[in-house]
Amino acid sequence: MRQPVCKNLVPISHCAEHTLNPIRKLVDNLKINPNPDKSFLRLSIGDPSVFGNFNPPPEVISAVSEALTTSCYGYVPAHGLVAAREAIAQYYTTPKSTLTSEDIYIASGCSDALRIAMDCLGDSDRHILLPRPGFSLYQTIAGNRGIPVKFYDLDPNNNWTVNLKQLESLIDGNTAAILVTNPSNPCGSAFSVQHQLEIIAVAEKYGLPIIADEIYQGMVFEGDSRSFGELSDNVPVLSCGGLAKRWLVPGWRVGWLIAHDRHGRLATVRGGLTRLCQVIIGSNVLVQAAIPKILANVPQSFYTATLTKLKKAAEILYSELQDCPQLRPIMPQGAMYMMVEIKVDMLEDIANHMEFVEKLITEQSVFPLPANIFGIPNYVRLVLTVPEDILREACHRILEFCAQHKAKVLRKKSRTDISPMLSS
Ligand SMILES: Cc1ncc(COP(=O)(O)O)c(C=O)c1O
Repeated sequence: MRQPVCKNLVPISHCAEHTLNPIRKLVDNLKINPNPDKSFLRLSIGDPSVFGNFNPPPEVISAVSEALTTSCYGYVPAHGLVAAREAIAQYYTTPKSTLTSEDIYIASGCSDALRIAMDCLGDSDRHILLPRPGFSLYQTIAGNRGIPVKFYDLDPNNNWTVNLKQLESLIDGNTAAILVTNPSNPCGSAFSVQHQLEIIAVAEKYGLPIIADEIYQGMVFEGDSRSFGELSDNVPVLSCGGLAKRWLVPGWRVGWLIAHDRHGRLATVRGGLTRLCQVIIGSNVLVQAAIPKILANVPQSFYTATLTKLKKAAEILYSELQDCPQLRPIMPQGAMYMMVEIKVDMLEDIANHMEFVEKLITEQSVFPLPANIFGIPNYVRLVLTVPEDILREACHRILEFCAQHKAKVLRKKSRTDISPMLSS
């Protein structure tokens, strides 16, 4: 009989070793010791459901409870229930871009749609261009799949628009796709239609497809919110979205990928997308079955009310923090986030953004997310889904903290480079 061997550790795979969630890694490494005399205020979590002030509308709840009484117990096509795919196609059809159920692939959240898109286009020798700052999940997926990435910069002084020249300079014969996030997590920015067209023009010049993370589509405070897929005449676009943010049910884990392809350039890709959906035999059928009613029945007033609340939160944060010399809040245009620059050279005893966050937690029990996990030093990301009273209290404490740490003499600007975790 084989004797158990206890001494040797079971080795893990290359895939497991290279799968990294930067947010987890940061939170594990951060010294989180809140001040026991002050309530702990988390402005870090991008989940609208945590505070109970952003709830899904009754139409969403009743659509799922009605689906529960129908027979949706079995497997369905791995890329989604036909009725749900038809409803999504109809919902996102515009006069310029007609979609059918054949263009829709339902996934387990937008994360899974992004996984499918990146896996379908990227390869070990074909890189994907990612925004910086950008949502850290893209790197998690790339690391897991062994897909190399390169970063193009967003300009904090120009509403986080893409540095188009630098974007172009990164493109070569091994570029597989350009990934864009619009509206943006972490920036809270939304591109103008003109800027979207400029990005599409770069993709067209080099014959590249676009992966558009549009989980926040429709969530802009003013003006139009248009999909890259709708705007593009010649560039194929894989648009990823889902129920998580606009319908406020991130835990339900249903998202979708929409293939916008006016000229049949995705013929091979479509087969790949279907096969990649088959890896986990599709997403939750109960929620899929509710999609037609969710998309048809939620009134416009719900979306407007959500945006009004998010905008008000942004205005509170901006007006409270804008006069603080050590901070530079950047007014968001949509999504659920605001970026704030930390002028560390104007703060005493604070060498960088990580120390800013750690000391803010220790002294004031306020926790913003250091934005180095999104690839940019000396910024923090605040979430807009926090109730008003907590936001105001958090601002009050942040201002007190900055006043207490105000530098007497201006230090030389610290040059903290991008977190090592991002280059690992
Ligand atoms: C930009 C962006 N893309 C994708 C996701 C993931 O969405 P889901 O919860 O549907 O997987 C998020 C979640 O925060 C996000 O901010």
